[in-house]
Amino acid sequence: MGSTRTGGNTEQLARRAAAGLPEAVGQQWVRLIDLSLPGFRDLRHSGDGTYPSPGGDARRLLDATLRATDIVIASPLYWYSLSAPVKNYLDHWAGWLRVPGLEFRARMAGKTLWGVTALADQDRSVADPLVGTLRHTARYMDMRLGGVLLGNGNAPGQVLADGDALEETDTFLSDASLTAVAP
Ligand SMILES: Cc1cc2nc3c(=O)[nH]c(=O)nc-3n(C[C@H](O)[C@H](O)[C@H](O)COP(=O)(O)O)c2cc1C
Repeated sequence: MGSTRTGGNTEQLARRAAAGLPEAVGQQWVRLIDLSLPGFRDLRHSGDGTYPSPGGDARRLLDATLRATDIVIASPLYWYSLSAPVKNYLDHWAGWLRVPGLEFRARMAGKTLWGVTALADQDRSVADPLVGTLRHTARYMDMRLGGVLLGNGNAPGQVLADGDALEETDTFLSDASLTAVAP
């Protein structure tokens, strides 16, 4: 969950979509603003280019990421792209790829990435950069992009007036695998 407020449109849309999952599908919801995730630092070309094994909340987030078969990125549209907390989370993937012995790339390959996004603009095409980020990220990581659910709303709750988005929540995530993590 990558909104910078709780109970907003992205969260409401994501919860509607997750409500359609079968009971057998485990879910772990992670709210990024509740975590102390340090800002990513690019150490790729310093020293031997490796990253230390993360501790604290970064470790918890890494473990949740690796445990999931499906990763649902729930991010409001901020400046046509992902919110800063989500972007920082994805930036950390670049470090996790370089933690000796972690095998992050091999363990992420084959998972499914999803997106859930609320935006104020009526024109959904303004979210193309966000959709492109998730599509290219999935391809780079040998993951599958399951889909990106877009809903229109600005003040919290307005997304519930977007009939098209609500209809989509009924079938969105329907082919998700066994565990869902929504950062
Ligand atoms: C920093 C910031 C940037 C935003 N940028 C966009 C944008 O580029 N396009 C858009 O349609 N809405 C934009 N919005 C509006 C939000 O996407 C919209 O209010 C959304 O419903 C917020 O989601 P939330 O309720 O989950 O926090 C922006 C809002 C903020 C606070």
